[in-house]
Amino acid sequence: MLKFENVYFSYDKNQILNNINFEMKEGEFVYLTGKSGVGKSTILRLINFSEKCDSGSITFDGINYEGIKEKDIPKLRRKLGIVFQDFKFLPDLTVYQNLSYIMEILGYSSRTIRKKIKETLNDVGIFDKKGMLPEQLSGGELQRAAIARALLNNPLLILADEPTGNLDPETSAEILELFIKINKRGTAVLLTTHDYSLIRNERKIFELNDKTLKEKK
Ligand SMILES: Nc1ncnc2c1ncn2[C@@H]1O[C@H](COP(=O)(O)OP(=O)(O)OP(=O)(O)O)[C@@H](O)[C@H]1O
Ligand SMILES: [Mg+2]
Repeated sequence: MLKFENVYFSYDKNQILNNINFEMKEGEFVYLTGKSGVGKSTILRLINFSEKCDSGSITFDGINYEGIKEKDIPKLRRKLGIVFQDFKFLPDLTVYQNLSYIMEILGYSSRTIRKKIKETLNDVGIFDKKGMLPEQLSGGELQRAAIARALLNNPLLILADEPTGNLDPETSAEILELFIKINKRGTAVLLTTHDYSLIRNERKIFELNDKTLKEKK
């Protein structure tokens, strides 16, 4: 479903990734770990088309990013659910409105929108907060809302960048449980964290260190 082959990437002259190879199958849960600044977010940004690799090949859902037509990028992006910290909510819209306007842009009918948002907010456990403004939510609730937003389009793969970064240990564990629940229903999850204490050993773990990626056994 997702494959990196001999991927190299630099910001200007600063090399970040040196020959990255890894593969994720449909429905897999993969942790991407490594110290701060090694390039974990960069890997997610390459998958998300926010950056382009210098050489090598990235393939997602059968499409090779090299030579992909501009017009095909939005289609592929819709198969990704993004939980990034810099992807904020609109402050003047309620949680519900923040989700519904995205679905309106995507062209869903109002009936589908109502049904899907209800279902998704229930899934992430904040249906009772639907009328609140983002600033009225706690950190954990806001993260649940971000996960709900990522789920609206029934993505093939969720990219979650440090989704527990600003949360206390108990809330972090709850958010992680939520990703595990979502994954059990079949959505693949690629989650970055530098917090090893969160990692459940039974999952696949890749560690980025010194520009290279290795699977941790
Ligand atoms: N837009 C950019 N331009 C230039 N350098 C950048 C840019 N974004 C990130 N970098 C640099 O690339 C390196 C990798 O950054 P990245 O954000 O991918 O690390 P990270 O592993 O996600 O770190 P953290 O755990 O702190 O989130 C860092 O040294 C960073 O300073
Ligand atoms: Mg990062």
